[in-house]
Amino acid sequence: MNIINLDSDKQIITLQGSHSTYAINIYNRNLPMHLHWGARLSLVTSKLFNPSIERAFLIRARDRDTSFFIEDMKCEYGFAENGDFRIPAFRIRDGRNYPITGPFELDVHLYQGKQEIIGLPSARVQAGEHIQTVDVRMYDRISGLLISMSYTMFPEHDAVTRHVSFLNQGDSPIRIEKAASLSMDMSNLGYELLYLHGAWARERQLLRRELQPGTISFGSTRGTSSHQFSPAFAIVSPETTEFKGEAFGFSLIYSGNFLAELELNQDANIRINLGIHPDTFEWQLGPGQRFDTPEAVMVYADDGLNGMSRRFHNFFKERIIPPQFSGKERPVLFNNWEATYFDFNETVLEELADTAADLGVELFVLDDGWFEGRNSDRSSLGDWSEDPEKLPHGLKSLAEHMENRGLQFGLWVEPEMVSHNSSLAKRHPEWHISNPDRPVAEGRNQLVLDLSRSEVCDFIVETMDGLLSSAPIRYMKWDMNRYLTNVAAIHLPAAQQGEVYHRYVLGLYQVLDEISRRHPEVLFEGCAGGGGRFDPGMLYYMPQYWTSDNTDAISRIRIQYGTSIFFPPITMGAHVSEVPNHQVGRTTSLEIRGHVAMSGNLGYELDLRNLDSDELETIRKQIVFYKKYRTLLQFGRFVRLESPFESTDAAWMFIHPDMDEFIFFWFRLQADANRTAPKIKLAYLDPDTVYLEKERMLEYTGSELMNLGILLTPPMHDYASLRLVFQRRNP
Ligand code: GLA
Repeated sequence: MNIINLDSDKQIITLQGSHSTYAINIYNRNLPMHLHWGARLSLVTSKLFNPSIERAFLIRARDRDTSFFIEDMKCEYGFAENGDFRIPAFRIRDGRNYPITGPFELDVHLYQGKQEIIGLPSARVQAGEHIQTVDVRMYDRISGLLISMSYTMFPEHDAVTRHVSFLNQGDSPIRIEKAASLSMDMSNLGYELLYLHGAWARERQLLRRELQPGTISFGSTRGTSSHQFSPAFAIVSPETTEFKGEAFGFSLIYSGNFLAELELNQDANIRINLGIHPDTFEWQLGPGQRFDTPEAVMVYADDGLNGMSRRFHNFFKERIIPPQFSGKERPVLFNNWEATYFDFNETVLEELADTAADLGVELFVLDDGWFEGRNSDRSSLGDWSEDPEKLPHGLKSLAEHMENRGLQFGLWVEPEMVSHNSSLAKRHPEWHISNPDRPVAEGRNQLVLDLSRSEVCDFIVETMDGLLSSAPIRYMKWDMNRYLTNVAAIHLPAAQQGEVYHRYVLGLYQVLDEISRRHPEVLFEGCAGGGGRFDPGMLYYMPQYWTSDNTDAISRIRIQYGTSIFFPPITMGAHVSEVPNHQVGRTTSLEIRGHVAMSGNLGYELDLRNLDSDELETIRKQIVFYKKYRTLLQFGRFVRLESPFESTDAAWMFIHPDMDEFIFFWFRLQADANRTAPKIKLAYLDPDTVYLEKERMLEYTGSELMNLGILLTPPMHDYASLRLVFQRRNP
């Protein structure tokens, strides 16, 4: 059966998902117009996408053609100029610096499979898999520019991926000033925008707001996708809840500067653009050259935000993260950062490792401070050899000690950076990003290596390869602790200075691609001062990400809840840490810290030497529990039940893939007097199954749990939590 249908008579392209349809109409045989994205339509025959009525001040794109006015139309790739005054998807100039605005000659090409985007991460398709792609190609005869928009439908996820390529088939250079990965217009039905905002240690806070006439935009010009905004958002109906209603989700598979724009115009049309941020981007396209935008993913759900998240989670798990990790259980780790910071030596590490191993930890991660002279964040980045004072027997011996204790060994690195006073900076003062005429700007006392230079990328690959080959290192935490500033590149000509930010990201992807090709078995965890680059582009190489430097359980409830709108819990590094918490000073029980951390990818990051035997026993039990239910917690369906952004309580659950078991978590962020017992309705259970709640030995049917809910008797204090395991009776 075709996933994509081409009605050449009516010039309609229909992409069919399991519960959704995306349809494009080629108007007048040369304009790609948006026809429909939403509920599944069995057949799309209509050409009635908004017919134009002649109105004052509308501009005719073609002489005397009164059949349409571009500003009136729903476009598939918002045109610049030409009578469309909405925010354009692209801005491109020909050799004379004139804007390229069409008209374009158009053709449509349908094929099996999906082309790889060279140099950029994109959704993975297996050889021989029944997947179809359609390219809508627009050719500009005047400049020789061929713009090709690719659409691939992944029916099981109701996901459409989109990307655009630009090929200069003319004789003169072309300048790309803006090139969104996706652009689309839709009629406004009172929609709201849902997106994630934040800051360092406060990432991915959920925000929902009405669309009003005018433009809302958010993005990053920091060189990374940023702590402040995620390259992901959704358009939702006002009545959409976690459980019902329409949600249109968008996400960009990219880790650099991005811009999301939503414009509600005079005619209640919403234009949506998502792509590389044009303020920090420009690209010279010489004759014969091609430029590819990053890929964007769009997901449609008619069953609420949980429905949208389920599709994104499965998509990222099955199509984005490295395939060798998509079904692989992740180890329980111990990380020494908050336990010791820079102050450790081999004896301390081995002591911590011995206790961690006794508690059931499976992976020991040695964080920052292990390399020569690194006793604070003021030095040594770039010089990746072990510190002889802290590690007199070297990394290999330490890793072997861990292995002998039954622990895998993992290592922290920050390969994109260089400290001012490092020997690397002395050897290659030209390797960091800076403007040679301006003062150098430092963030966290460090400079960013210029990954737009191939020799820098080669250095990183060889150095990291050398490290990984020098000792049994099974895991690498790849950190990135400052944004890019003063971006200029002495090795590029004037006309290409606008390319540096994007070339940096391309360099990074090339490095990650090569290292993971050489070491496919190494588990990478991404990090950028916590979750400053937590995006699908990084997940393509790194199946898990350090969600936030904020390890406080209460802050984490919000951070992890917000993150889960798009990203599955298995991708979220989540650690139990010390109290009072190092970021917010709050004291919470080990129990709630455990409940929050095991709702992500469980780890411990505290000084085990300071814990008493009761605390150690609690941790031991948490790890036993986690391992017992690891399949459920790492691969089950995650369902949000109550939002910490709307209440002082929060709840979520994980349902085993085979539906036999589920675990329910409830949290109280703040206690109040005189409250009734919380009653939470569960969701997505088999209505006729009888489930046994194992702690209280109570039985419920799925339909009772979903319609009447469970009544909770929480402890009466701030920061309380409950964890209940339910099992199908007589499975
Ligand atoms: C960043 C990371 C932390 C830790 C430190 C080490 O802040 O997010 O987890 O690794 O760097 O310097």
